[in-house]
Amino acid sequence: MSEIIDLHSTSHLSELIKGADWSATVLDEVDSTNKYLKALAREGAPHGTVILAEGQTAGHGRFNRVFFSPDRCGVYMSLLLRPRLHAEEGLLITAAAAVAVCRAVETLTHKKPNIKWVNDILFNGKKLCGILTEGSVSENGDLEWAVLGIGINAYLPEGGFNPDIKDIATAVFDSLQEGSRDLLAATVINEFQRIYETLPRKDFLEEYKTRSCVIGRKIEVLKNGTSRPATALDITDNCELLVTFTDNTTELLNSGEISIKL
Ligand code: BTN
Repeated sequence: MSEIIDLHSTSHLSELIKGADWSATVLDEVDSTNKYLKALAREGAPHGTVILAEGQTAGHGRFNRVFFSPDRCGVYMSLLLRPRLHAEEGLLITAAAAVAVCRAVETLTHKKPNIKWVNDILFNGKKLCGILTEGSVSENGDLEWAVLGIGINAYLPEGGFNPDIKDIATAVFDSLQEGSRDLLAATVINEFQRIYETLPRKDFLEEYKTRSCVIGRKIEVLKNGTSRPATALDITDNCELLVTFTDNTTELLNSGEISIKL
């Protein structure tokens, strides 16, 4: 019996991606697909350019945290968007991608993941995917371009996740299946495309909220090295998190400076 090796394939991906907008390239290894694509964006690459990598040596997330990206174990991809959005609406891109990832995982597995505001996808309380949108803002405050980076743990690495993350990370697939990462990447892109077409209408935010594992829960708000207990009340139309603290004050949290602990 031949050994199964789940390799990404540019041509297979192109067949699976439905929208004409997207043009995907697979790299063997890169420091970070976001970093690579940001350089292309600055050189004028078109909307719809997609970079995937089999592995990343310096994958990163919010607050410059390391995103562990072992070879052929995940979908590490970045999508270049040139949207008509004000910079303040940029969070909608992250939120739309979060919904797209949840839909894709549900389509391909029996798992029902949920969203931890603002950019994490969890299954059974463990992280399955992280999303990082980075962009360039023009003088009038519009987004010139955005690079949407999505990192999904498709499989457990051989020997399991490293000790730092083994209690907080999980994977989409329970066993190795050829073509699965391509199918996962393409399904995410296709779902994202469906949402992106009407992004400014924000219709998908209801689904984002339904999939949220934060609303109504007690959380810790982590800001500038301090932690404050709070309850998450709602998510606004601009994807801010409305919280109430124990002294009954409320605050709208913007993802830029805040992270939360469930
Ligand atoms: C987070 O967990 O805060 C976000 C993680 C985002 C990881 C993805 S993997 C593809 C792209 N390249 C990166 O360096 N980061 C994103």
